[in-house]
Amino acid sequence: MVTGSAGFIGSHLAHALVQAGTTVIGVDRRDPSTDPTAAANLAALRGRPGYHHVTADLLHCAIDPILIDADTVFHLAGIPGVRPSWGPQFGDYLASNVLATHRVLEASTRIGVSRLVVASSSSVYGPTDGDASRETDRPNPASPYAVTKLAEEQLCLAYAKRSVGPSVVALRYFTVYGPRQRADMFTHRALYAALTGQPLRLYGEGHQRRDFTYIDDVVAATIAAGTVPNAHGTINVGGGSNASLLDVINIANSLTGREIQLHQDHMRNGDVLLTRADPGRAGEVLGWQPRVDLHSGLRAHMQALASPVPDYSRAA
Ligand code: NAD
Ligand code: UGA
Repeated sequence: MVTGSAGFIGSHLAHALVQAGTTVIGVDRRDPSTDPTAAANLAALRGRPGYHHVTADLLHCAIDPILIDADTVFHLAGIPGVRPSWGPQFGDYLASNVLATHRVLEASTRIGVSRLVVASSSSVYGPTDGDASRETDRPNPASPYAVTKLAEEQLCLAYAKRSVGPSVVALRYFTVYGPRQRADMFTHRALYAALTGQPLRLYGEGHQRRDFTYIDDVVAATIAAGTVPNAHGTINVGGGSNASLLDVINIANSLTGREIQLHQDHMRNGDVLLTRADPGRAGEVLGWQPRVDLHSGLRAHMQALASPVPDYSRAA
């Protein structure tokens, strides 16, 4: 089962699993027949015999009947995004990231799921001193979103300490980019601005650095986390390309030959200056390392943005 399968990362993961011959039950509260983003994300899976989509809210639905034949749960459903988590939506973050996760854990235990992989976040580390973050570092979340992601992964790890229930791998993804990236994220916005000539709002001076991690690398790490025997605990998924926002802007400019028009704005609360993953544990436990460099990844992301998106909701 892949939760959040109509989302950015979940749809790529479900597609890769189906391509590999695995039967996938995808669950998401966004309905591809009415939600254009969900429709576009699921377009490549439509009609595939190995993929079964269930539109359901994990906060309320009966999870056991959906899970009944699943041996592995990839739990990616959640409310992402650092900046809106300060607002009145915080209850939604708490509900989807913590309470729905509790329901998934309870159902997984009842059904006898063997492995649960949960999408955690680099944001749990908070501000860093410049060194690469290791899984043993003390978490220091700087936003309400990050607090819910820390609670989510720790809840899963607490369940894994019991004698019953699935083993748990909590993957701390570092700023994921690539085709179908969420429209609120920086890389999407920078490439869109470069393609269309629309201005890009820059929060701060663009010196923030991220370990930008390409979607195919994230999917490979996630599948490994679901399949490698004896894996457990938190694992960083990042370290592909550490770059500043200005570096991304420069690459986007060079890919399109158009100079992005910048509108400078103030830095947002909860925004950290640097994320940097120590990928050592991912290498040791999962045999994983990032393969896609930022320039190649941004080129692929831009090509996808520039191509027309198939419309799942209107397809026959
Ligand atoms: P996304 O918003 O594209 O996908 C999340 C999906 O979860 C959405 O389709 C949403 O409808 C679904 N969902 C939310 N609450 C639900 C509920 N209660 N029941 C059923 N479905 C629900 O986000 P994404 O970027 O693909 O992120 C996926 C996961 O990875 C999230 O948990 C996010 O916190 C985590 N993460 C993402 C990044 C990143 O850079 N994109 C980095 C770190 C962690
Ligand atoms: C991203 C995801 O949005 C989170 O869901 C995820 O948990 C997190 O990565 C993670 O790594 O764990 P963030 O790093 O804030 O969070 O990624 P973006 O939303 O793409 O923002 C990156 C930087 O660009 C931030 O400094 C932000 O302030 C800046 N930005 C973003 C802009 O300057 N302008 C924009 O329009 C958007």
